[in-house]
Amino acid sequence: VNDPTVTTRVTPYVLEEDAVRVLDQRFLPAQENWRVVRTAEEMADAIRTLAVRGAPLLGAMAAYGMWLGAVRARDGDRTHLDAAVAGARALLGRSRPTAVNLFHALERCDAALATAPGDPEARVAALKACADGVARADREACRALALHGARHLPDEGGVLTHCNAGALATCGVGTALGVIRAALALGKRLKVYADETRPLLQGARLTAWELMQDSIDVTILPDGAAAHLVWRGSIQAAVVGADRIARNGDVANKVGTSGVALACHRHGVPLWVAAPLTTVDPRTPDGRAIPIEERADDEVTGPPGGPPWAPTGVKVFNPAFDVTEASLVHGIITEVGVAQPVTPATLAALLAQAPAGTN
Ligand code: MRU
Repeated sequence: VNDPTVTTRVTPYVLEEDAVRVLDQRFLPAQENWRVVRTAEEMADAIRTLAVRGAPLLGAMAAYGMWLGAVRARDGDRTHLDAAVAGARALLGRSRPTAVNLFHALERCDAALATAPGDPEARVAALKACADGVARADREACRALALHGARHLPDEGGVLTHCNAGALATCGVGTALGVIRAALALGKRLKVYADETRPLLQGARLTAWELMQDSIDVTILPDGAAAHLVWRGSIQAAVVGADRIARNGDVANKVGTSGVALACHRHGVPLWVAAPLTTVDPRTPDGRAIPIEERADDEVTGPPGGPPWAPTGVKVFNPAFDVTEASLVHGIITEVGVAQPVTPATLAALLAQAPAGTN
């Protein structure tokens, strides 16, 4: 069987000379607002504020952030440049804690710098090549995992997804949405249901926009309606992304994912996790060891910039991610194949096939 062509019209960033132009995802779908990022500080800010987001894209953006740190210090000597890059690394390393792709990319940059020649231009070039390599590997991983995953989706029916694990979150066709794109390219007749994904609405704003850009059938629903949709038989499979997969197969993904997984498990619907191997963290033993980002209260108490709908002074719990236990995940779809069932052994077997530098 020939591989289908898996494409998208959506791209979250464009490289420029000594800068990265990013699609500011906070303004979607109302505005396609492109912002030029010239420094590591600006990149860390774009990451922290979710102008760019999604685990694999965070990896690439962090690597380009390191490169920008070097670019802005290229006029000094090596000591000056290395100090600037070290500062950039510290800043980028503090930007968001959960997506392990970000740290993985920073470590790849460390390795590139360690073997680069001493003159500043060569060090700038080494970081650029490293960042390009992170982006290229992610683009290829998305395509490969999309093809692996597509055959596991049903020939027809409803597919539920949560948050945005699409082109906007990666350097390629996406992870969960890549799998859906590839299944559609194979001729499967799927109806996509996207949870709105409170509180920042990545599903309603980003997944809906990105799929509509590609003329893919999508219906959004409040997060609270997902269990009902599964119960009434409208969902034949769920497919989501991940921010970090622990060694035992526990998965951290956008908050609300574990509720979807529980509903699917209860009703016998397979929940697939699609992620490149850069999202698997063998150094984290299980879900309890995954750092879960907690974000600002005002994301929950009211609309962005608008008057709060919650009473002033109310206490807020706002974790950006949750953990879905491995036993609730039907399979983990990666670029080298699928871990199914999800066990430490099946995951380790995939990691052993990881291309050099991936993990
Ligand atoms: O807070 P976000 O929008 O960065 O969270 C994104 C997610 O949870 C995605 O599902 C995950 O990063 C996988 S993206 C391919």
